Amino acid sequence: MTVTTLPGGSFTMAEGLTVSRMGYGAMQLAGPGVFGPPDDRDAAIAVLREVVELGITHIDTSDFYGPYITNELIREALHPYPDSLHIVTKVGALRDAEGGWPHAREPEQLRQAVHDNLTHLGLDALDVVNLRLGGFDSPEPGSVAEPFTALAEMQQDGLIKHLGISTVSAEQVAEAQSIAPVVCVQNFYNVAHRDDDDLIDSLAAQGIAYVPYFPLGGFSPLQSDTLDAVADRLGATPMAVALAWLLQRSPNMLLIPGTSSVDHLHQNVSGAGLELSGDVLEELNSLVS
Ligand SMILES: NC(=O)c1ccc[n+]([C@@H]2O[C@H](COP(=O)([O-])OP(=O)(O)OC[C@H]3O[C@@H](n4cnc5c(N)ncnc54)[C@H](OP(=O)(O)O)[C@@H]3O)[C@@H](O)[C@H]2O)c1
Repeated sequence: MTVTTLPGGSFTMAEGLTVSRMGYGAMQLAGPGVFGPPDDRDAAIAVLREVVELGITHIDTSDFYGPYITNELIREALHPYPDSLHIVTKVGALRDAEGGWPHAREPEQLRQAVHDNLTHLGLDALDVVNLRLGGFDSPEPGSVAEPFTALAEMQQDGLIKHLGISTVSAEQVAEAQSIAPVVCVQNFYNVAHRDDDDLIDSLAAQGIAYVPYFPLGGFSPLQSDTLDAVADRLGATPMAVALAWLLQRSPNMLLIPGTSSVDHLHQNVSGAGLELSGDVLEELNSLVS
C-alpha cells in the first residue's frame, strides 16, 4: 500500500516539530500485557518500517513498553531516523517484575529515564518527552511542579527538545505551562469517552496538540451500538469511524492508534480518511450526551 497523502494532513507542534496528524502508537509491539518481547519480532519490525513507508512522521513510545522492548525495536527498524520522523516518548513510571507500572516521578528517576530513552532510541536529544502522571487512565489531583520542573531542567540541558504531559487535568496542564511550554497533552479520549472535550477546545485555541490514547478503546475494543450502526450504514468498520471522528473532532487532534499488524495499520490509515457528514457527526456526538 502506498499512501501519498495521509488523512488529516499535518500539525505543527512547535518550530521544527511538524508531524502527520495520522501517527502511530508503538505500545502494542511489546509482548502480551505490554510485557516482554513480541511473539514475532520480524513482524514488529515490519510494522514500524511500514509506518515510515506510509509517510507517518509521529511515533509514540515509552521505555515502559516491554520494558525497553518497543524502543529497541524502533531503533533496530528505523535508525538512523529520517529527519522528518518525530519520536515522542514518556517518563514517570517503571515496570516491576510482575508487569506492574509503579510510579517513578522523583527528579533523579526522571533523569535516569531520559538517559535510558536516549540510549535505547540511539538519540542525542529526545524530540518530545511526555511526563506521565495520573492513574491507569484518569488524572489524580496534585501539583505537577516538582517532576515537570525536573524535565524543564533537562530541556535546558539540551537532552529534551519539547515537553508534553499525560493523564492530567486542565489545572495540571496550566500549572505545567507556568513552568515551561507544553506542546502536547496525551490523555484517555475516544468517541465514547469524552471527559476532555473542554480541554481539547482550550488547547486548540492555544495551538497545542491533543493526543488521545486508547482511540480504539485500548485493551477493550470500543463497544457501542450507535457506532456499530453508523459503521454498518457507511460500509466501514467501527474502528474506521472512531478514527475518522477523532480527526474531524478538532484540528489539534493527533492520532496514535496502536497495532501490531501491517494489515490493521493500513486499515487505520485508510479508515481515518472516511468523510463523516454533519448528520453522522451529530449521531456520534450523542454517544456521550
Ligand atoms: N500516555 C499514556 O498513558 C498511554 C496509555 C496507553 C497508550 N498510550 C499510547 O497510545 C497508543 C494507542 O493506544 P493503544 O494502542 O493502547 O490502544 P488503541 O489504539 O485504542 O487500540 C489498540 C488495539 O486495537 C487493535 N487494533 C488496532 N487497529 C485495529 C484494526 N484495524 N482492526 C482490529 N483491531 C485493531 C490492536 O490490536 P492489533 O495489534 O491486533 O492490531 C490493539 O489491541 C499506544 O500505542 C501508546 O503509544 C499512551
